[in-house]
Amino acid sequence: PEDGPLKGKHVLITAGPTWEPIDPVRYIANRSSGKQGFAIAAAAARAGACVTLVAGPVHLETPPGVDRIDVESALQMADAVKRSLPADIAVMVAAVADWRTADIAKEKLKKRGSAPPALLLTENPDILATVASRPDRPPLLIGFAAETENVIQHAKEKRKRKGADWIIANDVSGDVMGGDANAVHIVRGDDVISLPEMPKEDVARILVERFTDALV
Ligand code: C5P
Repeated sequence: PEDGPLKGKHVLITAGPTWEPIDPVRYIANRSSGKQGFAIAAAAARAGACVTLVAGPVHLETPPGVDRIDVESALQMADAVKRSLPADIAVMVAAVADWRTADIAKEKLKKRGSAPPALLLTENPDILATVASRPDRPPLLIGFAAETENVIQHAKEKRKRKGADWIIANDVSGDVMGGDANAVHIVRGDDVISLPEMPKEDVARILVERFTDALV
């Protein structure tokens, strides 16, 4: 690790989407690119932290000095996160699928001229909420909230409901998902810091500075 303010600290980050398999060739996904989470991993490594990045399926290079664990589904991500604890800071940036198929078909589903198959879904575990309630909960636990309306209000509720210390809220009604810029609000209880739109790398650098300040 590099020398820096986070030297000796373990930072655990989730990033990207999850893929929920339907059958051997099909899956349910979402539009997360992983860019913001990877940028945070890069910034934390530059600040001297030991970084574990649990990544869903994305087309991104591993940032220098980052320990990367690739996963596909939410269940795999939950497992990788559990195995990567303890951490001093955990930042859950991944767009985890809320639902997975109740059972994965062993063979490719066929059309066979009959009615389309009904997909029965079941809820995925909430990784952030699960980590929040563990005995080895990281001292600084951060979640993200992608919202399209009432961004800050929803983020405040989410922070309480999930047991996170901070929620980083962003309005994804524009082209944030997959884009290179982001405008976020750092929601820490009733105290909210709103940052203007800037490249995701700059958002990452500022967030990592804030995490560092919060640890001391
Ligand atoms: O409820 P929502 O998906 O908007 O919450 C977003 C936050 O919760 C993010 O930090 C995301 O990584 C985390 N999350 C999670 N596991 C889930 C769903 C969301 O860790 N199953």
